[in-house]
Amino acid sequence: MPLLLAFDDEAAPAQRLLAALHAAAAEPWTLAFVARHRFPDGEWRLRLPPELPAEVALYRSLHQPNEKLVELLLAAPAARELGARRLWLVAPYLAYMRQDAAFTPGEVVSQRHVGRWLAAAFDGLITVDPHLHRVGTLAEAVPVAEAHALSAAALLGALAAQRRPGALLLGPDEESAQWVQQAGHAAGLETAVARKVRHGDRDVEVALPPLDVRGRAVVILDDMASTGRTVARAAAALRAAGTASVDVAVTHALFVGDALAAMQAAGVGEVWSTDSVPHASNAVPLAPLLGPALQRSVRSFQISGNSTTSSILRK
Ligand code: R5P
Repeated sequence: MPLLLAFDDEAAPAQRLLAALHAAAAEPWTLAFVARHRFPDGEWRLRLPPELPAEVALYRSLHQPNEKLVELLLAAPAARELGARRLWLVAPYLAYMRQDAAFTPGEVVSQRHVGRWLAAAFDGLITVDPHLHRVGTLAEAVPVAEAHALSAAALLGALAAQRRPGALLLGPDEESAQWVQQAGHAAGLETAVARKVRHGDRDVEVALPPLDVRGRAVVILDDMASTGRTVARAAAALRAAGTASVDVAVTHALFVGDALAAMQAAGVGEVWSTDSVPHASNAVPLAPLLGPALQRSVRSFQISGNSTTSSILRK
């Protein structure tokens, strides 16, 4: 019987994934948790179930990644020692994907190195809206035997259409075009994309496209908001241009520090996110995407054996 292995701080989304797996799979999955103890010096002691089945999927969303990557690099080889033959990582949010090039000499291309760590530890990866900009596929970033990138864009587009019928979906920068187009297509909403120049972590400029937005409802849609400054700058420009409302839909609600306050101060009304990162704004559960995708991947791996494949599974 395949096992879903999760950490106690992500029990709620793991339970939702288990329910989705039960709906999608002929064979029932079970759920178990990794017990964690933090020693006074900050090191982890992890304890897994002492006997594991051949098929194990580890659920870990990688916000607050520095701690969690260490957990994964300890838990994955331990899982193999305890019986796992095939090990999946279900990471709804995949960290370190934005540093995909050396912008100054000597700068570490974190995406490549984190990708190699994960590929060495796992046989397969399922994630949602990974920030792939200068690389074409998830498998290039994480060269694991099976790499599947799902997208929540259509679900967020549907939610935006339901809450703000006829809204304009605006991507705040060129990189968001991929998600905005999918969302707009799925929900039948008009789309547009702004241009962004980043000067620093919290210092961005956003230029709106040449569109008349006076009196319109606009939903800013992006893969993630971190400091919230990208969204805040876009929202302020939209408000200044006379929009009726500005709301926000993001896949990954990282929302560090005063992000939410900065967005609200710029004129943002409602904020909707998926549950890839637990947050009060979560409005779209990902389990209905993740469960069938994990089940399909497990089955296709069983049929094709250990061949190197990758795909973009868009829903
Ligand atoms: C980068 O292009 C991403 O899609 C987001 O736009 C960016 O990470 C948002 O960062 P922040 O919220 O810190 O402006």
